[in-house]
Amino acid sequence: MNKLYLGGIIFTALMLLFTYMSVSGSEGGLNGDIVNMLAVAGAVALVIITVFVVTKYVRQMQTDTADGQLADEKWDGIGEYLNDLPMGWAILFFALIVWGMWYFVMGYPVNAYSQIGEYNEDSAAHNTKFETQYASITGDKLVEMGESVFLAECKVCHGINADGIDGKAANLNKRVEAKSVKHVVINGSNNKLLGMEMPMPDRNGLVNGATGAAITDAEIDAVSTFVANGMKGAGADVFANVCAACHGADGKGMDSVAPSIATFNPTLVANVLTHGKKGAIGEMPKFDRLNAKQKEAVGAYITNLSK
Ligand code: HEC
Ligand code: HEC
Repeated sequence: MNKLYLGGIIFTALMLLFTYMSVSGSEGGLNGDIVNMLAVAGAVALVIITVFVVTKYVRQMQTDTADGQLADEKWDGIGEYLNDLPMGWAILFFALIVWGMWYFVMGYPVNAYSQIGEYNEDSAAHNTKFETQYASITGDKLVEMGESVFLAECKVCHGINADGIDGKAANLNKRVEAKSVKHVVINGSNNKLLGMEMPMPDRNGLVNGATGAAITDAEIDAVSTFVANGMKGAGADVFANVCAACHGADGKGMDSVAPSIATFNPTLVANVLTHGKKGAIGEMPKFDRLNAKQKEAVGAYITNLSK
């Protein structure tokens, strides 16, 4: 008999023997354990198919002679035959793309059985329970809850006193620092502070209503100090002429037009937590893991701090 076939048969026999030994040695063995018996049947089928296929191709390599048309390109002297794409392969390729899209969009059970699905279902259930349980909390209790959220999630960057740890994050004891106002007036802002896309124009879009000219460097400095000082002192005229149209005469903002830059409020904080924020100081991550009530509570806490 051909050496190749003989080798194949010996290899198959050895593999089957090892499979049998390792399974029968395990707990339960083969005695009536359906799962173990299925595993062995599967292993036997795999071994036989593998040896059969490998033998076929080794045989083919031994006897094949080269024919067919060579492609013009040669890579390091190695030629390549012009072969048609196998139809089965092409069909499988496109079917896999379609299947991949289906699996990505709706096949993976994001809200049913799967690890991620189970987690999502559990956290949704927890959040509903949490929100019904604490729905009626207001006032001091809400601020207290906000303090505990703050200490757990925010103090790493904002500091235990919310002072921003020497400029690492925003100082939340006051609404906004001069350098942040200046940064926003010069560069504009697009942080969804109103909860939706409503950007503030950069300096080229800010016109002094009294002079009709674009805002000047001196005016930017003056208005930044004015806002940072809690809407007091020099710069009031610039604010009235350039900013008040959107932010309101008192700087407290207008619904769907501009946010308050005079005070914090829970809605503003919740929007920062939902969308994150980039500014002069750096980048604040968004906090998807907080539920609506927790955002409201930490918003109440910060509003209270900056009063
Ligand atoms: C055309 C309307 C408009 C005008 C005029 C305007 N703003 Fe704004 N401003 C906005 C909007 C909208 C936002 C929110 C942008 C966002 O979501 O990031 C904003 C955001 C800001 C912020 C960011 C607050 C924060 O927490 O980061 C500051 C500071 C600010 N404005 C200051 C000013 C000053 C000072 C002026 C006048 C020199 C001014 N704005 C003029 C519309 C305006
Ligand atoms: C990884 C650090 C980090 C963490 C954690 C963090 N923040 Fe911030 N936060 C920042 C930075 C940096 C800024 C300043 C962004 C800028 O340049 O305007 C900021 C800005 C803010 C602002 C906007 C201030 C303004 O003037 O508009 C609010 C509100 C805020 N954070 C609240 C929170 C709350 C509430 C938490 C906890 C749930 C939190 N932050 C957790 C880094 C952080």
